[in-house]
Amino acid sequence: AGYSSPSSSPSRNATKQRLPGAIIIGVRKGGTRALLEMLNLHPDVEVAKAEVHYFNVEEHYRRGLAWYRSQMPFTLPGQVTVEKTPGYFASPQVPQRVWEMNPAVRLLLIVRDPAERLVSDYTQVLHNRVTRHKPYKSLEELLLRQGHIVPAYKALQRSLYHQHLDRWLDVFPREQVHVVDGEALIRDPFPELQRAERFLDLLPRITPSNFYFNTTKGFYCLLSAGGHDKCLDESKGRPHAPLSSRAFRKLCRYFKEPNRLFFEMVGRFFSWC
Ligand code: A3P
Repeated sequence: AGYSSPSSSPSRNATKQRLPGAIIIGVRKGGTRALLEMLNLHPDVEVAKAEVHYFNVEEHYRRGLAWYRSQMPFTLPGQVTVEKTPGYFASPQVPQRVWEMNPAVRLLLIVRDPAERLVSDYTQVLHNRVTRHKPYKSLEELLLRQGHIVPAYKALQRSLYHQHLDRWLDVFPREQVHVVDGEALIRDPFPELQRAERFLDLLPRITPSNFYFNTTKGFYCLLSAGGHDKCLDESKGRPHAPLSSRAFRKLCRYFKEPNRLFFEMVGRFFSWC
């Protein structure tokens, strides 16, 4: 379905590494790993297991497309390669670079309540610091000064979806960006995967029996065709760092207008706080 690029290889059926036909560009903590692993259930999808960080890390970008391709899985013609790097979404230089790689590439953006996302983002940074025995401020210390939201806080800025998407839509047409509802993916993954299959022009191959709710994990886990059972690792769906309900309400108020702008931009409403 339009994924095979002009092949330089003489053998039509050989598996080889190819540039991605679709990229999950973010958002960080939106459910990007879940979406990637779930898409990988499809027989015509192969994914780059690790985040590639090609377009957003200068040192990688300088290595050029041959390096990028070398990070990709081996695929057959007609299969689509997907990579996910949530850092792409909020990096200003990335949309143009992606376009230069392939102006027809399909983009997937998974979003979630921006206030919840911020707390999840903080929790991840905190966890990384704690593992390295480094101290870290409390979320309220970073988020509030004299009772007011600190607009410069990075995790807050990463939740301003309309600002980032606006830059992507300066480069790519709206139809090339598919928005996935991260909360819906948690509640019931199958319908979101059906929509993603359609967006990617894939045959409907993912079925409800690919998912089962794991009561221990508290999330859906994956069952692949070979009978392999897989839950995401414990860093996905972990308890959030505490935040007072007063501060959380402030956050919700802060995101009201940015959210409205985002809904307008994507032509869709989400019931966020
Ligand atoms: P929390 O850890 O805040 O709950 P990312 O992969 O982009 O870092 O996103 C992580 C988030 O994916 C988790 O955030 C979790 O809520 C969400 N998620 C969605 N589906 C999931 C699943 N089936 N298993 C675990 N986490 C899932």
